[in-house]
Amino acid sequence: MSTTHFEGRFTGKVLVVTGAAQGIGRSVALRAAEEGGRVVFVDRADFVAEVAAEVIGGQTAAFTVDLETYEGAAAAMRFAAETFGGIDILINNVGGAIRMRPYGEFEPQQIDAEIRRSLMPTLYCCHTVLPHLSQRGGGTIVNVSSNATRGIHRVPYSAAKGGVNAITQSLAMELAERNIRVVATAPGGTEAPPRRIPRNDAGDTETEKSWMAEVVGQVKQSSFMKRYGTIEEQAAPILFLASDEASYITGSVLPVTGGDLG
Ligand SMILES: NC(=O)c1ccc[n+]([C@@H]2O[C@H](COP(=O)([O-])OP(=O)(O)OC[C@H]3O[C@@H](n4cnc5c(N)ncnc54)[C@H](O)[C@@H]3O)[C@@H](O)[C@H]2O)c1
Repeated sequence: MSTTHFEGRFTGKVLVVTGAAQGIGRSVALRAAEEGGRVVFVDRADFVAEVAAEVIGGQTAAFTVDLETYEGAAAAMRFAAETFGGIDILINNVGGAIRMRPYGEFEPQQIDAEIRRSLMPTLYCCHTVLPHLSQRGGGTIVNVSSNATRGIHRVPYSAAKGGVNAITQSLAMELAERNIRVVATAPGGTEAPPRRIPRNDAGDTETEKSWMAEVVGQVKQSSFMKRYGTIEEQAAPILFLASDEASYITGSVLPVTGGDLG
């Protein structure tokens, strides 16, 4: 698939999108570039460069790094600022439940892994982007949280995303006077094409698949619309919040869930 560049909501802006190799992050990054942004696609999967190259005529760059380390987050921000002269918008999209299982079934190291995946990249990237946003006189951070702060079979992930909501609200209070908005979406269940990078490298056992089926049932049942959303339905509100159209919105976590409030 290729996409064509045109003028739009992000003309003149530099965006960093994390987890841009697939899924929601890929769709957000490609659309931001289509709408005129200069976009840095960041991911630990090296095929992120192929994804960034899908934009014809736009200005994109790719950076491969593990954002579960502070140094990785700092390097990504430095790369973006050096490549495009600054950063205006950061979209913290890296995350995702690695395993679905009742809480008592998690091994201790599996609990840590969920926090490392779904909380630390956002915490690190929010910190390392700050000098760059300040240098521009302001900017926007959009965190991709989750509606799963209330839901079954992924308590460590729920805790991580509750942390993302807390970062969003507290950082927004601190940064409003510096002209920096901090906002989030909380996606509900989202249909994704088969993932090139699985959430869980080890694959899922039959028991884990049945726990996953229970999660899908709970999420669909809780949605007024009784269905999962699409990746495009998640990308659109993220880009709205990132744009100047949302200039009076900060500290908010927007549920994008077909009515499900957990
Ligand atoms: N898909 C859903 O149903 C759903 C629902 C609610 C919230 N969300 C949230 O939306 C976001 C995106 O979800 P998705 O389903 O598109 O994700 P995904 O698992 O399909 O893709 C995540 C991307 O992030 C990258 N990534 C993972 N860990 C990384 C790391 N340490 N450093 C750098 N890159 C890393 C992966 O390589 C991958 O390209 C996540 O934060 C997730 O929690 C998703």
